[in-house]
Order: sequence, then structure tokens, then C-alpha cells
Amino acid sequence: MKRVGILTGGGDCPGLNAVIRAVARRSFSRGWEVVGVQDGWRGLVENDMTSLTAREISGLLPRGGTILGTSRTNPYRIDGGADRVLRHFAEAGLDALVAIGGEDTLGVAARLFEENQLPVVGVPKTIDNDLSGTDYTFGFDTAVAICTEAIDRLHTTAESHNRVMVVEVMGRHTGWIAVMSGIAGGADVILIPEQPITVEEACTELRKRHDRGKNFSIVVVSEGYKLTYEAGGQQEVTQEATLDQFGHVRLGGVGELLAREIEERTGYETRVTVLGHVQRGGSPTARDRILATRYGLKAADLVHEGRFGQMAALQGDAIVDVPLREATAELKFVPPDRYEVARAFFG
Ligand code: F6P
Repeated sequence: MKRVGILTGGGDCPGLNAVIRAVARRSFSRGWEVVGVQDGWRGLVENDMTSLTAREISGLLPRGGTILGTSRTNPYRIDGGADRVLRHFAEAGLDALVAIGGEDTLGVAARLFEENQLPVVGVPKTIDNDLSGTDYTFGFDTAVAICTEAIDRLHTTAESHNRVMVVEVMGRHTGWIAVMSGIAGGADVILIPEQPITVEEACTELRKRHDRGKNFSIVVVSEGYKLTYEAGGQQEVTQEATLDQFGHVRLGGVGELLAREIEERTGYETRVTVLGHVQRGGSPTARDRILATRYGLKAADLVHEGRFGQMAALQGDAIVDVPLREATAELKFVPPDRYEVARAFFG
């Protein structure tokens, strides 16, 4: 009989509850107990945990958000935080922990495993899809579907008014959401952090298109794109200067500045839509439900086999496992050839 803790950390995303359900169902079938840790690492720092039974996990598969709550608490930024995590883990009689999160949450898991042998396994979550070691994180497909639907809707109103529509999507370090929803939605220009085309180049593409007789355009910009100019220099657009416990600024607002630049430089009437947290809300797509379920079962199996320090991952169509350290060592950027697919349709 084992006692398995589960936590969800970082920004929420659709599919978290589906993972919790899968870990719990497989654990129950082995006769184990399952404990929910509240609000990510905060629950272990502050000893805030509750038992999960069949009742709590019922009806979770299609439900967005996380029943466990989430936070960006970093135990290593709190005095004695890591020690408190280890003490509360032991006092709760836990044998294993399943940490569901992105680079930050899993980075903490990797360190606790390496430095203190915490028996932890990871599940890769983030709408940004920027974790290494896995082809896809769950939550990403849903975010791309939401953005694609928004782009489709913006197309019809853009066309009616002869406007340029700038759509700002999430993606703190990488342009995965922008590129994939831009390809799916037929964007005319896409700006991402990895391949920063200049504002001037973006305007040239729009002019080319309008010269071909098209009088409306869709521009997708990733929140992490730094405004880049031919003369050199880049400007990151942030909401506020304060950093979270993992050292991240709050991004947002680049769409507005880009829209102004486009309107001034081209004379085309331009509007901006910021999709924001809509991208993280609501029910997961079927693909994300299935991926989350497969990850959850894999995580429970890794616990069963005592293979700690590993993360469930998708490679091709196979669920495999990779070391947490490897998955969190560097970010996974949009490869140039994927951007080229999008670029073939610019202008
Ligand atoms: O990491 C996921 C993410 O949605 C990023 O794309 C975005 O920059 C950030 O989280 C927003 O965080 P918050 O929910 O704290 O505003």
C-alpha cells in the first residue's frame, strides 16, 4: 500500500483534472491512497493537503482548471522552503509525489529529486508547449484550438471592414501557439520570439497582400515577441516590472503597440484582440484529454516501478519517460522549418 501525493503548479491549463483522475484511478486500482496537495508547491511548504477519494475525482475528465488549485510558489525562494517540503512530505506519510507542471514546477521537482532524493515523477503541462523531452505538453492543443477559432472569427469581421486584425496570443518564451494557430487559421503574418521578423518586414508583407487586391489581413503575434526594427534594437513589452518567484515578468501589450505601428506605417485601419487567459480556460479538446490520461497512467506506473526523477513524455505517438533534469534543462523552441510552413503563406 502506497500513499501518493499529486500537485499541480504554474499556470493552469485544460487537462490538469484529467491527469489527476488518471493518476488516482490507476492508484486506486492498486489499492493505494491518493493525497491532493493544494496550490502546487505551496501545499507542501505550508502542509496543506487533503485525501482524494473516488468521489472527488468523479466527473473530472472534461473539467477545465484544476481541483487542486495552483500557484507559482517556488520553495527555493522561501526561507527553509525546500526543507519544509521534505518535512511535510514525510509527516504526511507520502511514498511518492506526482508533480504536474511546466519548466518551473518540474525544475523544482528535478532539484528536490537530485539533491534530496524526493521520490517524484513529473507530468508535462503548459499551453506554451515549450518543455523539452516531449513532443507535446497537454493543454497546448486546446489553446491552439481556441486561438484558431478566434482567428476564424476575426477573419469575417476583418473582411467586412477592410481592416488589419492583430491577435496577441500567449507564449512566454516561445511562439508555438502563435505558429500553430496561425498556420491553422491562415494568418498573413506571424511574429514570434524565436524568429523575430522586423516591424518593417511585417508591414511589407501586408502591403504585398493589399497590392494583390486583398483588403484585410490577420497578424498573429506572440506575447513574447520583442518589437524588432530594421535599425536594430528590440523592445520587450511587459505589464509590470515585478517578477514572480521564478523570476518571470508579466508579459502582454505587444499587440497594441504592433497594431499602432502597422496603422501608422501602412495607413490600413488596424484593430487588436488580446486572447489572454481565455486560452487557458474551459474544457480540454479530445486530444488533450487523451494525452493527459495517458500521461497520468504513465506517471502512476513510474511510481509503481519506483522510477523516480523521470517525467512522462510523448515521442512520436509513444508515451515514454525522460529524466526530469533533461526535460527542464532547456526550453523547446519552434524549429525554423515549422516557421517556414507559416511563412510560406505570409503576404
Ligand atoms: O506559462 C503559461 C502562461 O500562460 C504563459 O503563456 C503566460 O505568459 C503566463 O502563463 C501568464 O501567467 P499568469 O496566469 O500568471 O498571468
